[in-house]
Amino acid sequence: MLSLRRSLVGTLLGALVSVTLGTGGACAQATPDDAALFQRLGGLPGISLVVSDFIDVFVQDAVILSNPEVRERKTPDTTPYIKFQVTSLMCEVTGGPCQYTGLDLREAHDGLNVSEEEWDRMVVLFSETLAAHEVPQRETEELFAILGPTKEEIVVPGSR
Ligand code: HEM
Repeated sequence: MLSLRRSLVGTLLGALVSVTLGTGGACAQATPDDAALFQRLGGLPGISLVVSDFIDVFVQDAVILSNPEVRERKTPDTTPYIKFQVTSLMCEVTGGPCQYTGLDLREAHDGLNVSEEEWDRMVVLFSETLAAHEVPQRETEELFAILGPTKEEIVVPGSR
């Protein structure tokens, strides 16, 4: 998402690399390396784009939809709301100016009986989405370091 544009801008502008170029979009910013993860992901435009694309794929995936409770609760009507809440959560935990107002993750996934296999599939789909948006390895690793610990709030060991 950022690397190509960043190296280009770095070459062209050298010391002016911290100047923000363009407006919005997932790849329009020249962001310093020490900026918060939120900024390095392109702020809300970048995060909401990645989350939206990820959830579009996630809600249609055969492994995820093999879970009957997920099939029942993740309807087309709830998808925009889940996108909003996941964007807001990612914004907050990456150092952005948002305040997540959704349910506690354990509560949100209560009764869904999310299995290890579904979790692993979610990780693959999320990785593919990040790669499709050219999110660099450093930012990808930082996101997974944040995501990893939520597993125990979401997965029910031994389900299915
Ligand atoms: C395989 C893994 C996952 C599955 C199958 C899953 C499934 C679901 C489903 C079906 C809902 C809607 C529940 C309802 O409306 O009753 C939901 C809500 C939500 N999920 Fe997940 N989820 C998974 C992983 C995650 C992860 C890793 C995160 C974030 C770290 C997350 C964040 C959320 C949030 C923020 C909501 C909305 C909470 C609210 O209603 O306020 N989910 N999830």
